[in-house]
Amino acid sequence: MTRDEILSKIEEKYKQQEQPMDTYLEGLLHAKAINYWDYIQVDALFSLQKTRTDFPDEVIFVMYHQVTELLLKLVTHELEQATVAEGVTGSMLYEKIKRVQRYTEVAQLSFDVMREGMDPEQYNQFRHTLTPASGFQSATFREIEFYCTDMWNLVYTHKKEELKNSADIDEMFNWIYWQAAGIDRKTGKKSLTLQQFEEKYLDGFKSLAKKYQSRNLWQQFVQLPEEEKTDELIALMKDFDQTFNVKWPLVHLRTAEHYLEHGQEVKAATGGSDWKKYLHPMYQRRMFFPELLSQEELDNWGKDPL
Ligand code: HEM
Repeated sequence: MTRDEILSKIEEKYKQQEQPMDTYLEGLLHAKAINYWDYIQVDALFSLQKTRTDFPDEVIFVMYHQVTELLLKLVTHELEQATVAEGVTGSMLYEKIKRVQRYTEVAQLSFDVMREGMDPEQYNQFRHTLTPASGFQSATFREIEFYCTDMWNLVYTHKKEELKNSADIDEMFNWIYWQAAGIDRKTGKKSLTLQQFEEKYLDGFKSLAKKYQSRNLWQQFVQLPEEEKTDELIALMKDFDQTFNVKWPLVHLRTAEHYLEHGQEVKAATGGSDWKKYLHPMYQRRMFFPELLSQEELDNWGKDPL
């Protein structure tokens, strides 16, 4: 655009808003130049690492969780656009899932920062100050599930036969796979970690799941014309499913083993789950797009060694 074109567009903009353009131009004359630290909010960002002990490695634990939350936020940022838009095309879906897959891979591949990056002796001391908090309580992680797939795919595998796909969303929430981390099915009692989590987020999760049941990522794919369901798109969706639901869970589980099996005995997790079993993708069988998988892929889900 030429300078004259820019000026006339600016004039038009303020005219439409019935605002005095000259005052805004004078404001420009006095405005301070933007700088990196204000734009990125570096000081605010660096004020967020609050530790509960003096162990130097605790700050690594806090910061890496924050890094992951930001990556997950990038994922939801893309998923929200992909699921809210009307008339999503195959190429739009491909572009969005490609981004989402990239962020998820960063989370998976960088997890060694946790797995090998802290002193187990320090970890096993500062972690006691965190009970009953747990990464289990990450709402961003769960939101991704509601954006990606039908609620049915998040229901316990062994319960599906009984519910026969007829359950409504509220009923399915009683059997969502993550209840296994915090509910004693014999007594019906929920762990404090799960109680806190549900108190804060359950209503919001239910509305999200209801809102996205007909427009989640899988449903967007289903509604595409057949010729737009390309092999490339299908391969990418399967890759993302593997990365989010198998590869990340496996590196996360190996990390838990590294710290909680350090020393003589296997230690209890801060969130109190039967973590060795609960976290394994082979038992959890969480998958976003099972209809895209062959019988062999379904049978081997979660078994792949890293
Ligand atoms: C030393 C590092 C870590 C250990 C030992 C660890 C351990 C655990 C354990 C044992 C659980 C099961 C729930 C419980 O009983 O507490 C869990 C759940 C979880 N953690 Fe971690 N974690 C670590 C780092 C992280 C990080 C960096 C994140 C990133 C946000 C994270 C996110 C999660 C999530 C999302 C769950 C729930 C998984 C699911 O329901 O399938 N964890 N973690």
